[in-house]
Amino acid sequence: MKTSSPVCSYNEWDPLEEVIVGTIDGVTAPVLTHDMKTFIRKDYWTFYQQYGGKPYPKELVQKAARALDNLQKVLEDEGVVVRRPDSVDYAHHVFKTPYFESAGFFNADVRDVLLVVGDEIIEAPMSQRCRYFEFLRYRTLIQEYFDKGSIWTAAPKPRMANSLYDWDYPEEDMAFFRGEGNVPDSVGPLNGRFITTEAEPCFDAADFTRFGRDILAQRSHVTNDLGIKWMQRHLGSDYRIHTVKFRDPGPIHMDATWVPIGEGRVLSCPDRPCISSDVLDMFKQGGWEIFYPPRGVAEAEFHMSSRWLSMNILMIDQERVVVEKSEEPTIRFFKEIGLKPILVDFKDHYIFGGGLHCATCDVRRRGTLQSYF
Ligand code: ARG
Repeated sequence: MKTSSPVCSYNEWDPLEEVIVGTIDGVTAPVLTHDMKTFIRKDYWTFYQQYGGKPYPKELVQKAARALDNLQKVLEDEGVVVRRPDSVDYAHHVFKTPYFESAGFFNADVRDVLLVVGDEIIEAPMSQRCRYFEFLRYRTLIQEYFDKGSIWTAAPKPRMANSLYDWDYPEEDMAFFRGEGNVPDSVGPLNGRFITTEAEPCFDAADFTRFGRDILAQRSHVTNDLGIKWMQRHLGSDYRIHTVKFRDPGPIHMDATWVPIGEGRVLSCPDRPCISSDVLDMFKQGGWEIFYPPRGVAEAEFHMSSRWLSMNILMIDQERVVVEKSEEPTIRFFKEIGLKPILVDFKDHYIFGGGLHCATCDVRRRGTLQSYF
């Protein structure tokens, strides 16, 4: 690690010095293609039939933008340096590659796009066509970090040809309310079937969770085994990647499922327990304590996620946890386990799929590379 790098973070809980908070302007409603039905909840399919490929209604975007500004203010008040990526006005333009045509979703969930490991900032290749060019929003910032000494890597972008998707993936499996209710074991991901194939590597950054030298990785609808393999080989012998599985009928991103809140403490979503015995053994042997937070209660629309965005929190350090202000049961729960909740009005952002962790990417945390297991 070059100590001069402005980018340096090894886990989710060391003291946060600098963070990127996403920008939402330009966001375009995804077109409701077969693959996107695993991402967009069925209750909202008619909305996307109407708006797909077009800008969202202005009011929704303005409210989400305000939520992001609220988050910036709260973090700055806690002494964290906040950076914002570029606005874009081209997301709704139809773009065309040799393999597909789409319009850009370009939401504010920087966590899906960028992964910081040590002094390296890795652009995820993504797997949803509408997010293919989403990294462009971050290029000004990334280049600045690069100029100041960080390592900059772009993982190979998949062609996103038809072969990357399972076009026969059963539509009835997509209809499950992700993260809630009783789901039969025959449902796609529980049964080893996902909307993405293994035709070429793909991943979203939010399917990786960093615990120092150990990094958990989830095979999900947007991250495949080849993508996880790419990451392991890329990071080399300094890091151990562990593939982990949860009882989740619609796995997309790990940060509302298995969320570290400090050294030796992790939140586990009660509806989506970890079912990888090797990973559970690792946490047990390392002396980690597993906490089960209460379900979210925010009055909001959840187009692309479950209510468990309530546990999609951001740790400023091992004591201060940034939580959505209306998630009262979660706030009480954090107090009970000795944390200091820092409240932010953020629920108007939930409709675009992301909570506080999704909409951020920690650039620098004070700490060193350690083994916690
Ligand atoms: N899939 C999770 C859920 O439905 C939401 C995860 C969002 N995370 C993110 N980085 N965008 O509860």
